[in-house]
Amino acid sequence: MTENINDKVVVITGASSGLGEAAARRLARDGAKLVLGARRLERLQTLAGELSLGREAAIETDVSHFEQVKHLVDRAAQMHGRVDVIINNAGLMPQSLLESLKIDEWDRMIDVNIKGVLYGIAAVLPHMKQQKSGHIINVASVAGHKVGPGGAVYSATKYAVRVISEGMRQEVKPYNIRTTVISPGAVATELPDTITDPKVADRVRQLYDQVAIPADSFASMVAFAMSQPEDVDVNEILYRPTRQEY
Ligand SMILES: NC(=O)c1ccc[n+]([C@@H]2O[C@H](COP(=O)([O-])OP(=O)(O)OC[C@H]3O[C@@H](n4cnc5c(N)ncnc54)[C@H](OP(=O)(O)O)[C@@H]3O)[C@@H](O)[C@H]2O)c1
Repeated sequence: MTENINDKVVVITGASSGLGEAAARRLARDGAKLVLGARRLERLQTLAGELSLGREAAIETDVSHFEQVKHLVDRAAQMHGRVDVIINNAGLMPQSLLESLKIDEWDRMIDVNIKGVLYGIAAVLPHMKQQKSGHIINVASVAGHKVGPGGAVYSATKYAVRVISEGMRQEVKPYNIRTTVISPGAVATELPDTITDPKVADRVRQLYDQVAIPADSFASMVAFAMSQPEDVDVNEILYRPTRQEY
């Protein structure tokens, strides 16, 4: 069992599939008390059942609405008396060329990938300040370190996650709060399904088919950051499939 995870109260957004689900499975095994948020409640409830978390651990949450994220976090605090960790993981990646003018998709990425992370931070900060402890884990991407054609808006949201995290890291020092950004490369999840441009979707699927690694790679990174002694703050983890060039 990984150290420093047992009994920690952990809120995960976007826990209904992919990286969030993998993190939930791993942290449950290590004895964390989990509260899971996403829009697809049925999937969350099935996962909560499988992990013996109890039905109340699955909370329907759209992270683009602050009051829903606050409800998720406040429920975790009510159920378990504290909130030790939030994993701001919910996100989507409908990549396209700017000239395609998929403005609704740009808005959605900004609302979920940036504002959703900010809302998660806003929801936990009052609890963590009062506790004088906590750990905020935000999910960026390799695309938060570099940009390519079709990736301008998605990359912008992930660069934003890194900048917000670094600013926050410096501000929350007085409250003994740790800040980690995890930037994965290609990991096999449902993420490419959010791409509606057929050409871009083909290109990304090909890359994923060739190189993507399993989602439990992300869970291992989360466990690594969480399991450090409380006075060790792992701020950035950037990792890729060994075979991924981009
Ligand atoms: N897979 C990769 O290669 C990769 C690489 C770098 C970064 N990432 C990042 O990792 C994070 C997780 O993605 P994934 O790869 O696990 O993809 P995924 O399998 O598509 O999972 C995305 C999760 O986000 C949730 N979500 C989407 N919109 C939401 C909203 N408005 N409110 C609440 N939850 C929402 C989805 O749940 P519902 O649909 O049920 O709401 C789902 O649980 C994202 O931030 C993504 O950008 C992934």
